[in-house]
Amino acid sequence: MSSIHDIKEESLQLLKDADNLEKLEKLRVEILGKKGLLADLMKQMRDLDKDERPVFGQKVNDLKQELEKIIREKISSFIESEMLKKLSEEKIDITLPGASLKHGNKHPLTLMSDAILELYTSMGYTVVKGPEIELDKYNFERANIPENHPAREMQDTFFVDVERLLRTHTTAIQTRVLESESNNLPIKVICPGKTYRRDDDDATHSHQFIQIEGLLIDENIKMTDLKGTLEVMATHLFGDDQKIRLRPSYFQFTEPSVEVDLVCFNCKGEGCSVCKQTGWIELLGAGMVHPKVLEMAGIDSLRYSGFAFGLGVDRAVMLKYGVKDIRSLYTNDVRLLDMFDRFD
Ligand code: PHE
Repeated sequence: MSSIHDIKEESLQLLKDADNLEKLEKLRVEILGKKGLLADLMKQMRDLDKDERPVFGQKVNDLKQELEKIIREKISSFIESEMLKKLSEEKIDITLPGASLKHGNKHPLTLMSDAILELYTSMGYTVVKGPEIELDKYNFERANIPENHPAREMQDTFFVDVERLLRTHTTAIQTRVLESESNNLPIKVICPGKTYRRDDDDATHSHQFIQIEGLLIDENIKMTDLKGTLEVMATHLFGDDQKIRLRPSYFQFTEPSVEVDLVCFNCKGEGCSVCKQTGWIELLGAGMVHPKVLEMAGIDSLRYSGFAFGLGVDRAVMLKYGVKDIRSLYTNDVRLLDMFDRFD
């Protein structure tokens, strides 16, 4: 039969060797559990004299408390060292630079549209939009391009059905505004929007592009007002020394009509491959709104006159930033888009 002393020595030795929480828990059951070493000791109580029992019981109890204390201390020291180990392993180096967030930037077409809209709204123009699926009536007829007129050929078109098409120019917004505001003159609007033509896609043509239409109708509006307005835009967008040229042209909805060129950004007018040796690059179509267009909208063309222009935003982006292929504005190659981080 083992003595209290032996059990104590044995337990202490066992506990001493326990080097992790798991082993310790196992030992705790082996020593203090219902079928443990101390429980065995207590069984000896039966064989003792009555007066020896309390003394023995007291001794076993003391041993039990002593062992419990050792186990508790060991448990907390294990927990502590485990935590310290974890802390040292998971150390955070707060001096490391943080993971940088990639922020987006505006698409060049948006940058250019915003710049143009901001300029015109600062001059008192109101921004107006229109539907991309447009009625033949507003896209062609009200622009003085009747059915079967050969001028339609130039804008060979995506028809949705016999009456509706993907608008070929923002002039469709112009004819809508002329109608809706015919009793609310003067009119001063700037109309951005996507436009569509069945074009063979190449470096300077895309079946989808963006236009901005400007329209001003009031009494006494002259060609010089148009020219001055376009000069302000050209210098605002392309720099103070940017020159423009008005070249006679033909549109069914303006009379007279002009095409407006910028001095070539590349050769400054000397002539180069970018401007096909002319020194000029076309930016937009414009003119004085045709009296017939005003009358069709219900506006008195003897009293009122005005100008309109339609600018290709894609073309303006290509000129300003030297983008060589219009298609790269739509294929969204991030290497190109990232470059526009610097502009805004
Ligand atoms: N709508 C014409 C085009 O798309 C541009 C234009 C607009 C010309 C307004 C004159 C006046 O080519």
